[in-house]
Amino acid sequence: MRLSKKILSIKASPIRKFFKYTESAKKAGKKVYFLNIGQPDVSTPPVFMEAIRNDGRDIVEYGPSAGSIEMIDAVKDYYKRYDMDFAREEIIVTCGGSEALRFIIDCICDEGDEVIVPEPFYTNYGAFVRASGGVIVPVTTRAEDGYRYADRDALESLITPRTKALLLTNPGNPTGVVLTEGEMELIGAVARENDLFIISDEVYREFVYDGKPMSSFGQIKDIADRTVIVDSVSKRFSACGARIGVALSKNRELTENLLKLAQSRLCAPTLDQLGSAALYRLPSDYFDDIRAEFERRRNAVCEELAKIDGVVFSKPPGAFYITVKLPVNDAEEFLLWLLQNFDDGGETVMFTPAEDFYATEGLGRSEIRIAYVLSESELRRAVELIRLALAAWNRRLSERVVSAAVIERANAV
Ligand SMILES: Cc1ncc(COP(=O)(O)O)c(C=O)c1O
Repeated sequence: MRLSKKILSIKASPIRKFFKYTESAKKAGKKVYFLNIGQPDVSTPPVFMEAIRNDGRDIVEYGPSAGSIEMIDAVKDYYKRYDMDFAREEIIVTCGGSEALRFIIDCICDEGDEVIVPEPFYTNYGAFVRASGGVIVPVTTRAEDGYRYADRDALESLITPRTKALLLTNPGNPTGVVLTEGEMELIGAVARENDLFIISDEVYREFVYDGKPMSSFGQIKDIADRTVIVDSVSKRFSACGARIGVALSKNRELTENLLKLAQSRLCAPTLDQLGSAALYRLPSDYFDDIRAEFERRRNAVCEELAKIDGVVFSKPPGAFYITVKLPVNDAEEFLLWLLQNFDDGGETVMFTPAEDFYATEGLGRSEIRIAYVLSESELRRAVELIRLALAAWNRRLSERVVSAAVIERANAV
């Protein structure tokens, strides 16, 4: 018996491999600040549970495969607020943004088809594309350039007859990059001229700071037939466990085929759709305080990072992540040392090494992703711990160099 090459080519989640080390650190009595969490620490709006509680049904039955009418209409009305007019047939409700991504990629990719993705990227894209038989073709970005990727030459140099789509996260995970209007127009033009789909993962859409408006590829009319948007209640409404997402596209051929996959899994959870419909109907100002809080957290993290010698980062305009290049050769080795050997007053810190966010072998080894999903004071302390740990790590390395030199001299005598 043999498993498929497709599944064996998929890497295990990069976070899971550190679990046993964080558990040991906690067992040893250390307080660990977790900077690796992709779930907002905001309460899910009460309307979610109220909608479920107030529902009088006796049987939790299957619903329509494309999603319940209440949920589809709530999504439709939400998008209208932002000048995007989707018909019911152009909206497919899924089990999280994750399932939307899987379905979309399965609809687009044949074996060996290529999907261009800016790296570093959300690691599950690797799993989704490989599981479909496709290949990720990375557009490499750099900490020094603020991880920006909307460069016509860079994108066009990667396009081959096998290229089917550009897969983008906007605002970005893990970088927090938000595309400008000009960058979106440019990417749209590249997609149009080369007949590519744009898969726009917008699950962090409203996490945009500095008073900038949120924008969506769905607002660009002349690429409407090649754009598919991925959305979710997980981040914006702090409802990760609801497992409700949506795929939206004006390309009816695509949505009709997405529906075939939706039919194969019967329906998205009936009760979670009830709650999620109520979330999509929350007033637009629901998010204002949450956005302001995350902006303060981002600023706090950046202020603390600026105190560390040798780090490279740019203030990210969106999402709740920042990718940072540290003055270390191997961030994973540094993290393991942090969890096993370092503490300051009984406290240490956990982040996500960024190497697994890259498809190109060897890139990202010095980089980490910080999720700023803790209170401002905890974030300041957590970044301070990184600063103190870096100093201790470098002292340790220079002591090792000195002792190696002493041994070498002793051997030479
Ligand atoms: C960029 C991005 N897309 C999609 C998802 C999946 O979200 P969900 O399946 O919870 O909607 C995540 C989750 O972290 C993400 O970061």
